[in-house]
Amino acid sequence: MSQPQWTEVEHYLADRLIPGDPVLEAVLEANAAAGLPPIDVSPNEGKLLQLLAQLCRAQRILEIGTLGGYSTIWLARALPPGGRLVTLEANLKHAEVARSNIIRAGLADVVDIRTGLALDTLRQLEDERARPFDLIFIDADKPNNTRYLTWALRLSHKGTLIIVDNVVRDGAVLDAASSDPSAQGARSVLEMLGSEPRLSVTALQTVGSKGYDGFAMALVTGD
Ligand code: SAH
Ligand code: DHB
Ligand code: MG
Repeated sequence: MSQPQWTEVEHYLADRLIPGDPVLEAVLEANAAAGLPPIDVSPNEGKLLQLLAQLCRAQRILEIGTLGGYSTIWLARALPPGGRLVTLEANLKHAEVARSNIIRAGLADVVDIRTGLALDTLRQLEDERARPFDLIFIDADKPNNTRYLTWALRLSHKGTLIIVDNVVRDGAVLDAASSDPSAQGARSVLEMLGSEPRLSVTALQTVGSKGYDGFAMALVTGD
């Protein structure tokens, strides 16, 4: 079992389960043309995010880490009429590509892209007394994961679903002595998730076209 097989099985599954979508395909092409790194969620993962948002009947979604807006579009499509998604992005070029992709997807009135360091825009959201979010997807710079989780808890309510992407990193999460700050970010956020009494948590390993990684999912069960 190895990368070529993971990729082939992923395509097999996606070909049967995920209808072709000209908008999402154009988004990935626009991202590549603009030179964005191909680190968006895969189509199967995007669909999982969408299903989770529908299951928790999310009306307000927060995403930390927009890139070209690929995961943003999957999530925003789960919203009911009047629903809103706020997505935070530090890189102005990424935000610009995302803006044009989101317009292409017809979601400009649903998605609010906030540029700047997420630690700043999260504080702004709190200062604005933004209503709590129903689903929060943490997928930005991994060394700040525990800070983002702290903010996620502040901006959530009982019943909010918090998802943290990329917590396995090719298994690097096992290496306590790792010099990779992203691997350390994965370790610390898992530590925090596991010891936070307000959260009920699991994490799953994934393989596919993006290699070997995983994500954690936490339900806010207490205030
Ligand atoms: N969620 C996207 C992928 C996000 S990649 C998808 O699946 O389609 C991570 C993004 O986080 C990158 O675009 C990067 O520029 C952004 N980022 C990195 N550090 C950040 C920070 N401090 N604040 C906000 N965004 C940041
Ligand atoms: C990286 C970031 C991601 O959000 C991801 O899904 C995969 C890789 C990265 O920074 O390498
Ligand atoms: Mg990710």
